[in-house]
Amino acid sequence: MSSPSRSGVFDQAADDRVEQFTESISFDHRLYRHDITGSIAHAQMLAQVGVLTAAESLQIEEALRAIEVEFDEGRFPFRRELEDVHMHIESALIERLGDVGRKLHTGRSRNDQVSTDLRLWTRDAIDEIVLLLRGVQAAFVGRCDADMDVVLPAYTHMQRAQPVPAPHYWLAYCEKLERDISRLLDCRRRVNVCSLGVAAVAGTSIAIDREDVAKRLGFEGVAANSIDVSSDRDFAIEFTFALTLIAEHLSTWAEEWILWSTVEFGFIRLPQQFCTGSSIMPQKINPDVLELIRGKTARAVGGLQTLLVLVKGLPLAYNRDLQEDKPPLFDVFDSVRACLQLAAPMVAGAELQRARIGEGLERGYLDATTLMEFLIKEGIPQRTAHHLVGALVGKAMSRNVPLAELTLEELQEVDQRLDARIYAILGVENALAAFTSYGSAAPQEVRNQVLAWKKRLSPRG
Ligand code: ARG
Repeated sequence: MSSPSRSGVFDQAADDRVEQFTESISFDHRLYRHDITGSIAHAQMLAQVGVLTAAESLQIEEALRAIEVEFDEGRFPFRRELEDVHMHIESALIERLGDVGRKLHTGRSRNDQVSTDLRLWTRDAIDEIVLLLRGVQAAFVGRCDADMDVVLPAYTHMQRAQPVPAPHYWLAYCEKLERDISRLLDCRRRVNVCSLGVAAVAGTSIAIDREDVAKRLGFEGVAANSIDVSSDRDFAIEFTFALTLIAEHLSTWAEEWILWSTVEFGFIRLPQQFCTGSSIMPQKINPDVLELIRGKTARAVGGLQTLLVLVKGLPLAYNRDLQEDKPPLFDVFDSVRACLQLAAPMVAGAELQRARIGEGLERGYLDATTLMEFLIKEGIPQRTAHHLVGALVGKAMSRNVPLAELTLEELQEVDQRLDARIYAILGVENALAAFTSYGSAAPQEVRNQVLAWKKRLSPRG
């Protein structure tokens, strides 16, 4: 059978290889639910404006619902010559309804249809990702009270920098994921625009009501320019970018916890249900899930790049190139969704290795900056204080002791102004207690933030 999109203008069938080359049913079948939703809204609108009778629209709706069930149950047969999901559903409709089915495509084209389907799909996908992000945030926030007693070194340049309560780390990830959510919700506004009814490129002379379709589909607006919207894939690219940034955030977390779970760090024990073994080394408990979360980020970046290159230099409006938008979009979505689904239980199930963290905490001079700030408050200019504490650290390093173990004589060798009050500043606990600024690692600040996050994540928040 030749493709239903080949009108009477053709007197030759398509080359076999063309069908295989141009089909998209193998990947766009996952739009079926959205295609059917869009078609039902279109049919209802056609009835509203008198192009279809109410009975015809009802027949179409019922037949489309039955087709949807066939898809749901995996019974719907795919035929390559039918090219894509839109043609498959329409021909199944025509098979069932004959001429009534042949009326559905009035006032629309596959160009606006595919755009609508993709917008509906992306809208759902965004909502799903936002929920999953909330789940990961909840897992981080859920740890905060229990981990408040643990002080961790914060790093810059992967060198020990300053002490922080462990929840300060957890909330750092919550903040990143919150920006991801806000990016998704912002993108959603541009996704949620009705393109149905712009037909192929210039609109239609059929008396359709685009506002009516938009309302039925829950779109917040109707696209004002038919050329623009039928060529537009910005929304899909934006969504893929937002997903890619989520993957980047998760890969930072994954990298950090991979390091933290090593014998060298010994900060965290990963939940065993999310680790794998080695086929040769019996002692291994490997962080493969975290490594793959880090690794999937490469796929996301690749997918985003594919989309950006795909639209580069495309003339207006619809070009078949755009069919290639779906595999990377779906792949990036699937990858990031899977990462988020695994991240939440891993975050919740990991255990901080308190003894090991505590043992090493006085190493690395986490209190040096606080000492410098104490001296600044004593009236010593910052640059001088910075130099002076550097000299103290040098002295302590040469004896391989923490700053708190320098003798008063050693302190005063560096600067006469130093006195015994300094011991009350030194040590990680004191250094932590000294923080005061908003957004800092000050335990009270962190507790306030934990409370704010709990409120934000609570169902009523
Ligand atoms: N399978 C096509 C796609 O995904 C649907 C639109 C086809 N339109 C056309 N004029 N050939 O982009």
